[in-house]
Amino acid sequence: MKLNKLKIGLYRNLLPAEVFFDDGINVIWGDNAQGKTNLLEGIYIFARGKPYRIKKESDVIPFGKDSASLEIEYTSFNRDNSMSVFYRKGEKRQMKICGGEITKASEFIGNFKAVLFCPDHLSIIKDSPSQRRLFLDVAISQTDKKYVYMLKKYNKLLLQRAAFIKDCAEKNTVNFNMLEALSQQLSPCASYIEKKRKAYCKKLEGYMGISIDEMSCGKEKVSVSYCGITEKDEEPSTEAFEKVYTDNIKKEIQYKMNLYGPHRDDVDILLNGRSSRFYCSQGQQRSLSLAAKLAEGEISNDEMGEYPVYLFDDVLSELDSGRASYLLSKLDNKQVIITSCNEELFSPYGVNNRINVKAGEIKCTFSPPDTKY
Ligand SMILES: Nc1ncnc2c1ncn2[C@@H]1O[C@H](COP(=O)(O)OP(=O)(O)OP(=O)(O)O)[C@@H](O)[C@H]1O
Ligand SMILES: [Mg+2]
Repeated sequence: MKLNKLKIGLYRNLLPAEVFFDDGINVIWGDNAQGKTNLLEGIYIFARGKPYRIKKESDVIPFGKDSASLEIEYTSFNRDNSMSVFYRKGEKRQMKICGGEITKASEFIGNFKAVLFCPDHLSIIKDSPSQRRLFLDVAISQTDKKYVYMLKKYNKLLLQRAAFIKDCAEKNTVNFNMLEALSQQLSPCASYIEKKRKAYCKKLEGYMGISIDEMSCGKEKVSVSYCGITEKDEEPSTEAFEKVYTDNIKKEIQYKMNLYGPHRDDVDILLNGRSSRFYCSQGQQRSLSLAAKLAEGEISNDEMGEYPVYLFDDVLSELDSGRASYLLSKLDNKQVIITSCNEELFSPYGVNNRINVKAGEIKCTFSPPDTKY
């Protein structure tokens, strides 16, 4: 997968521009608060389906303006594709793939594939289970459109079931038939999500194991296991979920909430047999989050047959020199777009394109051979 061009109408503080990208390392450089992360976020929208740093979608519209727009051109398996997104205040965003309008986010996600690594990703290791679930959901959604659909359906049904449980509890009467019907609709979605997440964790363990082994010179061993309703080697089948729901109806009514299913699960990441969340040093946690992100790229390549685009937001400033050179050694033959305050930081690794951002104005050194620029 290769990103060729990003065309910005307006986006946050970024001014209209056409930005070209080359193979290998592309450095987005500039002082603090100039728009480097905004640029990276603008690219990642096309992978994740929405900006990753917002409270509400209209936040991407420049202050005092009415609209924002972005368009990318990328090549996947030698085919050129384009995608665009347009935001206008008070309206639903418009999304297009190769010029054709689409209405569902699930059709948008999974076309342009990218792995994003930013300092916040330490949260995969050290924060609450919801961060690890989010990591899995974003990663799996990139390669599995059915997962996007099932997750959306699951969340919708979950809300309905939660409202019904609360209602039963408050009225002190339980309509078991209705509750059973809701559970029966929920179970296949829960089963699909949990199976996929479990399988993903197994692959994560493999790839993270290799990175951790290399980074620690064989001293550290990682294990990754999914904590859901079933044991490690058990299948989280639809029937298994139906049973859990049936067996725990009283408890759920007592607590007035959905107590079981993918929205409550966690991922156990152990380093040398101990919980990484509670016993690892900051440095070890950084190695683990870096290993998880590198694994995400490898898994995407295994499943789709090509590497995603790697987006790094200011990560080298967070890594010590050993980890930084390890990371860079793993990025050969991949397209990397990386932000930094220091233009020269990556020069020893062979930078193909330098993109300067200053007060939202973007200038890049690379332009494709057939472009008069
Ligand atoms: N909707 C918006 N409209 C206009 N400006 C915005 C909007 N949202 C954010 N900004 C501004 O964009 C500026 C650049 O933000 P960005 O996070 O891209 O900086 P950066 O270059 O990555 O800086 P740093 O090196 O500190 O990470 C910030 O000053 C921010 O206030
Ligand atoms: Mg930034």
